[in-house]
Amino acid sequence: MDEEYDVIVLGTGLTECILSGLLSVEGKKVLHMDRNDYYGGESASLNLTQLYRKFRPGQEPPSTFGRDRDWNVDLIPKFAMASGEFTNILYHTDVTRYLEFRQIAGSYVYRDARISKVPSNNTEAVSSPLMGIFEKRRAKKFFEFIQAYDFTNPATHQGLDLNTVPMTEVYKKFGLETGTQDFLGHALALHLDDAYLTQPAKETYERICLYMNSMARYGKSPYIYPLYGLGELPQGFARLSAIYGGTYMLSKKIDEVVYENGKVVGVKSEGETAKTKAVIGDPTYFSDKVKKAGQVVRAICILNHSIPNTADADSLQIVIPQNQVNRSHDIYVAAVSYAHNVSAKDYWVAIVSTLVETAKPEEELQPALALLGPIAEKFVDITDLYEPTTDGKAEGVFVTKSYDATSHFETVCQDVKDVYKRVTGNELKVENMVKKQEEGGAAE
Ligand SMILES: *[C@@H]1O[C@H](CO)[C@@H](O)[C@H](O)[C@H]1NC(C)=O
Ligand SMILES: *[C@@H]1O[C@H](CO)[C@@H](O)[C@H](O)[C@H]1NC(C)=O
Ligand SMILES: *[C@@H]1O[C@H](CO)[C@@H](O)[C@H](O)[C@H]1NC(C)=O
Ligand SMILES: *[C@@H]1O[C@H](CO)[C@@H](O)[C@H](O)[C@H]1NC(C)=O
Ligand SMILES: *[C@@H]1O[C@H](CO)[C@@H](O)[C@H](O)[C@H]1NC(C)=O
Repeated sequence: MDEEYDVIVLGTGLTECILSGLLSVEGKKVLHMDRNDYYGGESASLNLTQLYRKFRPGQEPPSTFGRDRDWNVDLIPKFAMASGEFTNILYHTDVTRYLEFRQIAGSYVYRDARISKVPSNNTEAVSSPLMGIFEKRRAKKFFEFIQAYDFTNPATHQGLDLNTVPMTEVYKKFGLETGTQDFLGHALALHLDDAYLTQPAKETYERICLYMNSMARYGKSPYIYPLYGLGELPQGFARLSAIYGGTYMLSKKIDEVVYENGKVVGVKSEGETAKTKAVIGDPTYFSDKVKKAGQVVRAICILNHSIPNTADADSLQIVIPQNQVNRSHDIYVAAVSYAHNVSAKDYWVAIVSTLVETAKPEEELQPALALLGPIAEKFVDITDLYEPTTDGKAEGVFVTKSYDATSHFETVCQDVKDVYKRVTGNELKVENMVKKQEEGGAAE
């Protein structure tokens, strides 16, 4: 510990672990510390004993839930797009050698008070119960347009230059209903709100292509998830880091971050100071450098049956677009089961989350909870969201963001890329593992 490091990372949440993994692989000397005696911080996976200790102090888990060791319940569940940036980073760092991924069995969206599979191409659009007969034809034409679009070939543009026209114009051209726009924008393009409608359509086009490419990879859904839960990721990164000479330390109380002339020079823990020029940390280590940016409400629900109307799916995501339930933020459901070794046999864990909008957060989850059928046990958690107040360059202290309500890794990836750039001064470049639809020089 009495040494000099290129970077010291505080907290073993997913974002910090990915960053420390990327920097280790690049040859940086990394020291990674956590005040807790377990990996994962706010994004840990807990066994049944730990789960009850956190939410029902003094109460034992019921014996019907089976063996403790069969449970790995994520506090913040997230699915990875099979062809997305997060998956690219996993391959790039080679952390995949310690993890086994399985596909998520379904991707659903809520429209007019019921759920249906998200259609992801022209053939699926035609058979989707989400739309009426005429709307299906319009959606089919929209998907054909997206699949054929080539930035270098104006003949494929149908008069729409996606670099400049806003997404509303594209929807208008195909005459798509607002309910159809809801599922395209929120369940395929994974936008968090409707601000995208007035932005150039290119980003939405790229996000829809990513969904389609990811879907094409395994067939049932665009998402993948590690066996034994997300808690496997920090541990995978810790093992990886060791290979590159990095050091991971749990149960390390952080006394102080040491500065000289306004620049960070080290981190003091249990009387010893490790020297460094850069510190990365989660918001819980830097309460003086973050501001509150809202709250997330999450309900962890244990079920002894699959979710109704999902053909007995062993795992799935449901997106409830904000407009469908008269809200300003989407509601997400991420459900996994014994098929991913996160629960005892014949149990499902469904985690429902959204950004808090009212004084009664738990009631805001009701439209999603109502989809789950009988709930054997429910743990509700309301957490504050924090984001850094500065880019950290002046002091050399780079703070990550809290995890938002989404049930996918897209926003975590954005934060990873953002912090990486602030720390190194360079854009994060990872090889694209899957050939994406090329768009001739227009990229980046
Ligand atoms: C569950 O977590 C507790 C507390 O960390 C730990 O003591 C116990 O060994 C764990 N159980 C299993 C089966 O891993
Ligand atoms: C549409 O998607 C489904 C499911 O991924 C796939 O089986 C089918 O081949 C796709 N059809 C076309 C035309 O891409
Ligand atoms: C949606 O919310 C608005 C404003 O809060 C309210 O006026 C309207 O009645 C609500 N509509 C539904 C269907 O709940
Ligand atoms: C993981 O789950 C599979 C079935 O989904 C099961 O066959 C296997 O025994 C489980 N592994 C452990 C270690 O529980
Ligand atoms: C399933 O859970 C419900 C509560 O949600 C409970 O009443 C029922 O007895 C459970 N069934 C089994 C087979 O464990």
